[in-house]
Amino acid sequence: MTRTAFAAAASAALLIAGPALAQQKPSQATIEAYVKSTFGKASPEWVARITPDESLAVCNATRNNVTSAQSEAIIKRELAKVTYPADGKLLGDWKKGYAVANNGRGGQFSDPPGTVAGGNCFACHQLDPKEVSYGTLGPSLTAYGKDRKYDAEAMKDAYTKIYNSMAVVPCSNMPRFGTNKVLDEQQIKDVMAYLFDPESPVNK
Ligand code: HEC
Repeated sequence: MTRTAFAAAASAALLIAGPALAQQKPSQATIEAYVKSTFGKASPEWVARITPDESLAVCNATRNNVTSAQSEAIIKRELAKVTYPADGKLLGDWKKGYAVANNGRGGQFSDPPGTVAGGNCFACHQLDPKEVSYGTLGPSLTAYGKDRKYDAEAMKDAYTKIYNSMAVVPCSNMPRFGTNKVLDEQQIKDVMAYLFDPESPVNK
């Protein structure tokens, strides 16, 4: 089991429980005890993921309603966790990027150990306009590179966003793919190419 699955399962559980919990206003301690009892028998690797890091702890405690000072602190802290490619190249192979974006496996109970996780981007974003099945939790990323005129600054911003969503939007619902080691650098470059290569179906 990888951290990815655990994080996804935990956040899904909290999302589903969200409205009911908001009504009854349980304490943060109650929520943490619930999560712990649900995942108590998980592997140590998963158990480590139950403990929110400093930024997530602030999001949890404020139910994502952070003050502007907290917001600035989160962005600063999360930005420091972003590692840009040493070779300075942000774009890989868009075809491999499609595979990453369209792969929701990895870190699931049914995955054999060692399964390489995908980014599951389609679960939250429209990307290739021809793709009929996609989620709408995140904005549509159709024509993402084209709309930004393949601008270098926009590429860097997107890399930052994918590597660590909270370095851009504190308490983001988007996974922190690089920081939480869901995707490796090459996978992020490939998914970047899927967004920014003029030949990618995203820009057609
Ligand atoms: C669980 C849902 C979710 C998943 C999965 C997800 N995202 Fe996101 N994404 C969001 C949300 C929500 C936003 C809007 C900003 C925010 O709240 O962080 C966003 C914003 C973005 C943006 C910035 C869009 C802009 O306004 O310029 C990019 C780029 C992006 N996502 C790329 C990706 C890629 C690539 C993947 C897959 C590797 C991915 N996302 C997976 C939820 C998700």
